[in-house]
Amino acid sequence: MIRLLSVVGARPNFMKIAPIVDELKKAPDIEHCLVHSGQHYDDQLSGNFFADLGLPIPDVNLQTGSGSHAVQTAEIMKRIEPVLVDYKPQMLLVVGDVNSTIAAALTAVKLGIGVAHIEAGLRSFDMTMPEEINRKLTDAICTLLFVTEQSGVDNLRREGVPAERIFLVGNVMIDCLLRHRELAARSSILDRLGLRQNGSGCRPYAVLTLHRPSNVDDVKTLEGILSAVSALATDLPVFFPIHPRTRKNIETFGLGRYLANAGTTSKVGIVPLDPLGYLDFLSLNDRARLVLTDSGGIQEETTVLGVPCLTLRENTERPATVDHGSNRVIGVNAERILAAARSILQKPTRAFERPPLWDGKAAPRIVTVLREYLEKG
Ligand code: UD1
Repeated sequence: MIRLLSVVGARPNFMKIAPIVDELKKAPDIEHCLVHSGQHYDDQLSGNFFADLGLPIPDVNLQTGSGSHAVQTAEIMKRIEPVLVDYKPQMLLVVGDVNSTIAAALTAVKLGIGVAHIEAGLRSFDMTMPEEINRKLTDAICTLLFVTEQSGVDNLRREGVPAERIFLVGNVMIDCLLRHRELAARSSILDRLGLRQNGSGCRPYAVLTLHRPSNVDDVKTLEGILSAVSALATDLPVFFPIHPRTRKNIETFGLGRYLANAGTTSKVGIVPLDPLGYLDFLSLNDRARLVLTDSGGIQEETTVLGVPCLTLRENTERPATVDHGSNRVIGVNAERILAAARSILQKPTRAFERPPLWDGKAAPRIVTVLREYLEKG
């Protein structure tokens, strides 16, 4: 029997592990323990995703909670260590680039347990991003590196990782999207937001998400983005599911004037929403005319949905979304954001390519590699 243990912790981890969990359920020769670090704990950022994705209740919840980077990372390490010692997995699986990813990986390697990193090799080359630090450190100590796009392979090779440990397998986040797209289409979100028109059509609208510390912890940057998007909101409704970090800062910085009154959908101003569950958010993005975001995962999802995406950052660690997909990295200058958004609205929508291997089969490829590697001993 092969024993695997996976650690997830924050919102973008859950859709990456779901296809792996599904695949492992089909493997009678593999025993799997799912651990939630508790980095995210609200239903809006965690519980609702487990429900939407059909994920089982985690076998262990470390209930770590929020804290500074050092406190959160250290606390996860302290709490995961006895679980790893007790369960003795042959390999730890970690996904993405959050604090739970590096904390679990570092603890495991020090116990002599091999680590497989899913979504390895992505690089923004911006070491002010906590995620870039997490990605580089995790990749440096991993045994198996599962990569979503060619740039990841190139980055890892440049960093000296031997080719035989790198596997270009596609994108588990896209596996998850393709498996849930039909179910998401049955979500009532478009009706709830008054977007449905007669028949199956809907009014044009845009979606905004923001949570990167570099965008939302700095008053000038946040105000610049909100002023540009509220100007755009005079052209079409813009829906803004607000991350708790961002909501807190909008209140602290007194920027509430850029938001329409909660509950309205037709008044001018960005329409604030609570964070959405996976299916509601997928449904909303799928029919959007335009998405503006600083999220990494949403750049990938819009690429596959064929929805134009403006990335409100100076860089992306996911260049395939620009080379193949609908993504444009526009930065955080208010005039540039507004001009780019308006230019997209003036052009007809067009089809985009999917990056190679973003075909919904990344999870089976990963499990095949894991089994072959572990059976070889
Ligand atoms: C984390 C990840 C980021 C990921 C994001 C998705 C790191 C370094 N960052 O950032 O890569 O894109 O998750 O959301 O791991 N909070 C709640 N409820 C919760 C969790 C957090 O209200 O369930 C609030 C707390 O005030 C907390 C703040 O949100 O201090 C930030 O949470 P944290 O987990 O530290 O980082 P995120 O910004 O969510």
